[in-house]
Amino acid sequence: MHKELLKFLACPICRTSITFDGKTADNRFVNGYLKCVRGHLYQVKEEMGLIKDAKLSAGEFEWRVDVADESKYNEIQKQYNSYLNEDLRTALKKLMDILINSVIKSCLDTNNIVLDIASGMGRFVLQLAEKIPKDTIIIGTDVDEKPLRGAMNKAKKIGVYQKISLIVTDAKHLAFKDKALSTVSSHFGFDNVPETVLALKESFRVLKPDGKVIFSSVWLKEGSESIKIAEKYKVGQIASENRLKQTLKKTGFILDWFEEVYSGVWPYNPMDLLPVQGEEFSHVIVQIRKPKNA
Ligand SMILES: C[S@@+](CC[C@H](N)C(=O)[O-])C[C@H]1O[C@@H](n2cnc3c(N)ncnc32)[C@H](O)[C@@H]1O
Ligand SMILES: [Zn+2]
Repeated sequence: MHKELLKFLACPICRTSITFDGKTADNRFVNGYLKCVRGHLYQVKEEMGLIKDAKLSAGEFEWRVDVADESKYNEIQKQYNSYLNEDLRTALKKLMDILINSVIKSCLDTNNIVLDIASGMGRFVLQLAEKIPKDTIIIGTDVDEKPLRGAMNKAKKIGVYQKISLIVTDAKHLAFKDKALSTVSSHFGFDNVPETVLALKESFRVLKPDGKVIFSSVWLKEGSESIKIAEKYKVGQIASENRLKQTLKKTGFILDWFEEVYSGVWPYNPMDLLPVQGEEFSHVIVQIRKPKNA
């Protein structure tokens, strides 16, 4: 991670500020420890901050596959793409373009830093990094180190790593100070975090007044099997326009705009829990904003 991010970091347990002790190179923390004012310690391991508390984040999602190795990374991407039909692939590309352009606009209007939530293997952050101006920092985050290792290796390989910092942090207990940042993004991240409302409240906390969250999300039909499953796994809180609006009321965010990029019937795809095969869904992009006086 880039050294200059230190001023934005806070301990996820006690929210006090953090200092670093260890090896640095090329403007980055490489290996060592981050320590908060009260003495909570977090490791920096091979350029990645692991700023997560085991107790606070117990029970959060864990990846079963290791994708640090490039051939495994490519295999998983290829497998996933093989389940998408032509229409869906085109729609996802369009969605990605809109998301990238909206995030770049927000960055250029503010301070050239983006915090990406639930970055996983980095499908979004890698493409964003290719298009975003060169003095921007994209902070890719996930609750699990494994997918971020894959994203790091890929970023180095395709030559965009200079714009990327990777941090393991829980979307519900972010390792950032209050009012630290102006742009938060996520590509199908929030709707994968159980109790999404808690993750949105955390993003609200770390955003400056007038800061934005721009994210893609899947909407499901009320009364469908997909919605039942989403509820069972506590990932249904933003799964329709109505649900999103109800959830936003609980967080303090204002809805700026949303765009339904695609709607259709979900194909067979054993790699995704939702939507259920054969059920209607839509892919949307949403922009929400923290009020100026918050
Ligand atoms: C569908 S993937 C996101 C895809 C990714 N944004 C991309 O562009 O490739 C969902 C991710 O959510 C992460 N996740 C689940 N719970 C989380 C939490 N509490 N905090 C942060 N990330 C979480 C998972 O580890 C997984 O990588
Ligand atoms: Zn602390």
